[in-house]
Amino acid sequence: MGIRNWFMVDGPVLAQKIFVTTVLKPRLEPIIMGGMGLAFSQPDERWKVSRSAALTVVAPRHIEKYIWIMRQEAKNLVTRLIQSTESNGSVDPSQSLKLFALNVMFQITCADLILAGLDTVSVSLAWNIAVMCHHPDIQKKLAAEIDEFIKVNGHLPDLHLIVYPLRFRATAPLGLANTTRKDIYIDGYMFPKNSSIISSMESTHMRPELYPNPEKFNPERFMGNTKPMKSAANGRLEDRDHYNFGWGRRICPGIAMAEAQLFVALVEILSRCYVEPASDGLPDIDSVIHGGLTARPFNKSILIYIKSIWPLRNILK
Ligand code: HEM
Repeated sequence: MGIRNWFMVDGPVLAQKIFVTTVLKPRLEPIIMGGMGLAFSQPDERWKVSRSAALTVVAPRHIEKYIWIMRQEAKNLVTRLIQSTESNGSVDPSQSLKLFALNVMFQITCADLILAGLDTVSVSLAWNIAVMCHHPDIQKKLAAEIDEFIKVNGHLPDLHLIVYPLRFRATAPLGLANTTRKDIYIDGYMFPKNSSIISSMESTHMRPELYPNPEKFNPERFMGNTKPMKSAANGRLEDRDHYNFGWGRRICPGIAMAEAQLFVALVEILSRCYVEPASDGLPDIDSVIHGGLTARPFNKSILIYIKSIWPLRNILK
């Protein structure tokens, strides 16, 4: 079996130096999908071909043409949530959210793009819904903004809603592991050849020097930041508002797609529903359930439901 060194990094400056400016041999040995596909392949010619093939589907410039699919699926999602609530009194939205992300991905992409885009998007939405239950004030504020936009423009807003809970609860807390090609020395640290390095988004997002009072869900901290996540993630380190999508050459290529899906689904939910906790109490947003790459808020064993997802407006039906 041998021994492997593992390092976890949670300082953005060090992570930037490691993942962006140092050549790593990305990913563990091909244990998943036999190294096929994109996310688990080594950085060889095949990876380059796969990466540019993926970008021909999910690059930001293509997203516009998929918005109608996302809108259709978001409408179906909300209809399913409302119908289940009406017939059962409450609804656990996690399966419906997963189906939303799955349907969009199926229609747009295939293979490992589905794997990479399914849990991540549905888990991010699940956090949004769970957090909304705790903050009806913020929910109402967002709904009012959407109403105002519709009143002025006659249609739902386009991309730009900041997806606040992405910083508060990291979607893929440890991202994907990368491996050092040779011994590397950075800022007084030595990472031996063949070490695995992961960056802990979870712990980075809880650093008080980056996010004062980090345990507090406070969307105000991002007020006025209307940069799309794609440009924030690829821009200057100091301008990054969260680290959910990873680093450098292997940074998530699906950012624009994820941002569009989160935005379209949230606008649809907020424009037609009011999200409330079930009668058995608020969803627990402090216990994180780790499953594979993602960490989600809902757990069957502690039964967290979202009660009363009811239509407030009929305007867009
Ligand atoms: C909120 C949603 C998402 C999050 C938080 C997320 C996060 C991540 C992270 C952390 C990585 C590893 C980056 C690194 O190694 O530094 C990654 C890789 C990847 N993601 Fe995403 N992702 C999301 C949505 C998507 C979507 C919608 C797609 C596809 C349509 C996608 C496709 C991929 C692919 C193919 C890779 C592997 C890229 C490579 O190895 O070169 N992701 N993602």
